[in-house]
Amino acid sequence: MKVYGFLKDVTGASRVTEARRKLIESGSPDNLYHDHIKEVAQELHPDKVEVIVTKVEDVSPTARKFTFQACEGYQLPPFQCGQYVSLDLEIGDTLTTRPYSICSAPYQARSGEAPFFAVTVRNGRPDSGFAANHIYANVKEGDRFTAHLPYGQFYYEPLRDSRHVVALAGGSGITPFASMAEEIAHGRLDIDLTILYGSVSSRDIILEKQLSEIQCEKVKFVNVISGEDDYPGEKGFLNRDLIRKYSKPDSTYFVCGPLPMYEFVKGELDALGVPARRIRMEVFGAPRDVTKAKGYPRETAEGTCRLTVQRGMQEDVIEARISEPLTVALERAGIKNGSRCRSGACGYCRAKLVSGEVFIPSEGDGRRRADKQFGYVHACSTWPLSDCTIRIPIL
Ligand SMILES: Cc1cc2nc3c(=O)[nH]c(=O)nc-3n(C[C@H](O)[C@H](O)[C@H](O)COP(=O)(O)OP(=O)(O)OC[C@H]3O[C@@H](n4cnc5c(N)ncnc54)[C@H](O)[C@@H]3O)c2cc1C
Ligand code: FES
Repeated sequence: MKVYGFLKDVTGASRVTEARRKLIESGSPDNLYHDHIKEVAQELHPDKVEVIVTKVEDVSPTARKFTFQACEGYQLPPFQCGQYVSLDLEIGDTLTTRPYSICSAPYQARSGEAPFFAVTVRNGRPDSGFAANHIYANVKEGDRFTAHLPYGQFYYEPLRDSRHVVALAGGSGITPFASMAEEIAHGRLDIDLTILYGSVSSRDIILEKQLSEIQCEKVKFVNVISGEDDYPGEKGFLNRDLIRKYSKPDSTYFVCGPLPMYEFVKGELDALGVPARRIRMEVFGAPRDVTKAKGYPRETAEGTCRLTVQRGMQEDVIEARISEPLTVALERAGIKNGSRCRSGACGYCRAKLVSGEVFIPSEGDGRRRADKQFGYVHACSTWPLSDCTIRIPIL
């Protein structure tokens, strides 16, 4: 390396400084740097979209459909039939979220003068149904929400799935198939869909009018009633005989509904010898009564325990009910810990279990292998069994 000497170095540096000063002075005060990849990513996966309710319709004696449009300054991202939206909810002192499958078709969020998406919420029982009852009873046209979408992997994938899909739905689990049916009927998705929809009585059938109207050569809609009811259609449960009757040799099965239905249908598909690669499942939430989950080690889930929550330098000790997942304990105490699926699948509520004993139902355990090994849990599907300490990110 050649050394020019102190004087030359100093004058060289001052020339660079002067040139830099001129450049800065001639520059624009605006940030002209565009990261196109980041912009596309934000359009496809915005952190949040502010939305407004534009329509509320009864779609059964116990369910309501809510239509949303993006507020000014926001736009709806593209999604696939079967994906869900997570809505931020403020109910009394509780800040919480709930996932709802989008029951409108993707094309409706991309085209027309007023692009929209819709969800259908089933009213819970009076003694339960914390968020569902709140939405059902109170949400009206003009209300605004913060929505996060799209989420979930419960959608048709042509490289993996057969072109003949048998949908097995129970209760509000019909919603992702309403989206699929609408997209097929509009010519945007080229598959044959047969929906077998199990309900206890004809009063429980949700979105019947919408689904009956869009029936066509490619969309078949069959009600299956398990209770006493002279409603036309199939009778009984979504059992192996019925599934066989509506299947083709290579059908792919999409199953969506409450946990007990999922367990029953899984057994029937196993009995029919359907390989796991032809079955897609979505369970609508964590078990309501954790004592009924396979492997729960106690007789009852009564009582409370101490939950120590570490966030950065801060440590809080709160009360947690043994009957509720850790996420609910955090929400009751007003501690922010994000959630999206609330059924153990997405990992959004990931927390480090520092100490204590917990129960995680096998159906709600969507953790990565490394997380299991290093003691991480998904707070939405983790129930405390003793006093515990967890570490969560600061939000
Ligand atoms: C991917 C996915 C898609 C779904 N799609 C649909 C759909 O299309 N339609 C539909 O109807 N449902 C859908 N669900 C179910 C939905 O997210 C809700 O679980 C359902 O609406 C019931 O909500 P809930 O609050 O009434 O009951 P839960 O979700 O069971 O919540 C009750 C919980 O709230 C707790 N709680 C009670 N009181 C309080 C309080 N004061 N503060 C804090 N916590 C409290 C309870 O302990 C309990 O843990 C979907 C679920 C998933 C996972
Ligand atoms: S919110 Fe998805 S795993 Fe907990």
